[in-house]
Amino acid sequence: MKISIIGATGLVGREIIKILSEKNLINGNTIYLYASEKSAGKKLKVGSKFLKVMPLSLSTILPCDFALFSAGSLVSKMFAKEFTKKGAFVIDNSSAFRRKNNVPLVVPQINGNTITNKTKIIACPNCSTIGLVLPLFYLLKHAEIERIVVSTYQAVSGAGKKAIEDLNNGTTKKLNEPIKNNLIPQIDHFLYSGNTFEEDKMIYETQKILNRKINISSTCVRVPIQNCHSESVNITFNKPFSAKMAKNLLKNGQKIELLPLPMPTLANGSNNVFVGRIRKDYSFKNTLNMFLCFDNLRVGASLNVVSIMEYIILNKINGN
Ligand SMILES: NC(=O)c1ccc[n+]([C@@H]2O[C@H](COP(=O)([O-])OP(=O)(O)OC[C@H]3O[C@@H](n4cnc5c(N)ncnc54)[C@H](OP(=O)(O)O)[C@@H]3O)[C@@H](O)[C@H]2O)c1
Repeated sequence: MKISIIGATGLVGREIIKILSEKNLINGNTIYLYASEKSAGKKLKVGSKFLKVMPLSLSTILPCDFALFSAGSLVSKMFAKEFTKKGAFVIDNSSAFRRKNNVPLVVPQINGNTITNKTKIIACPNCSTIGLVLPLFYLLKHAEIERIVVSTYQAVSGAGKKAIEDLNNGTTKKLNEPIKNNLIPQIDHFLYSGNTFEEDKMIYETQKILNRKINISSTCVRVPIQNCHSESVNITFNKPFSAKMAKNLLKNGQKIELLPLPMPTLANGSNNVFVGRIRKDYSFKNTLNMFLCFDNLRVGASLNVVSIMEYIILNKINGN
């Protein structure tokens, strides 16, 4: 099998390489690394070998089975179709295709079945959305959700490697405001509605993945934490839902771990969404509060990309 990693030198790309290695998907397979012109020739450790990074251009695209894109939406828009022409399934981490009707937006354990033999491009949801929909999926086994109010505390790694420099050096090279000793209640650009694009992504993508028109109010905040996103979530159901019942459903959920206090220092490096502070909200009927924390580079990006690839292989989806 041949796997291309586009954006291999970035935070997500490097984590994809790590996860492929952890899942023993390097030995016996051919891995191609792509990044921008300025990384051409750089060598990255992939399993036990060092592989050269190729500059991405129409002339450097090699035939492959999977093209895993984590290089921003412009690069995906320019090059994803070119990889499909070379026979690849494209699994895209950017926002380029998430809203296209014919592109499945996938968290495999929830809606892997939306990938069909006709699918060529699969979109991976935004990191904040993946962490949210995983616990919601299990809670939906008991009751429908009428409304969600979610506030995020998003780590700096969510904005890529240049933002980490901003955190460490107090600069504003990537983020538009200083993040050191600060927090920024804006992620991505503002929309006409007053929401930011990040807030809108959480609303739209949650509805698409869960296939429900849930009412969602979202506020996304960048916090001066290097890695791991957290979310405070208030959920109103269509019938009574005790905290005990929610814990019982969640404790058996795949990739969910119950903890009294989910925190970035605990979630860092884990493949699970940590869920805690589950309690009744006495201010409104049929409502629960909970707090989530997860590694945005793994759970919110690279692990989901690799899990989509594994789902396609396991289910023998051929993309013809
Ligand atoms: N960070 C997260 O938690 C997260 C979560 C979910 C989704 N995502 C999405 O994943 C993507 C990557 O995020 P990241 O955090 O890894 O960003 P990053 O650390 O800034 O890395 C960006 C990567 O894209 C490459 N790149 C930039 N321009 C390119 C071009 N013209 N041609 C080829 N490669 C190019 C960079 O190569 P050079 O090193 O050569 O510049 C680098 O490898 C983004 O679309 C982001 O929205 C990120």
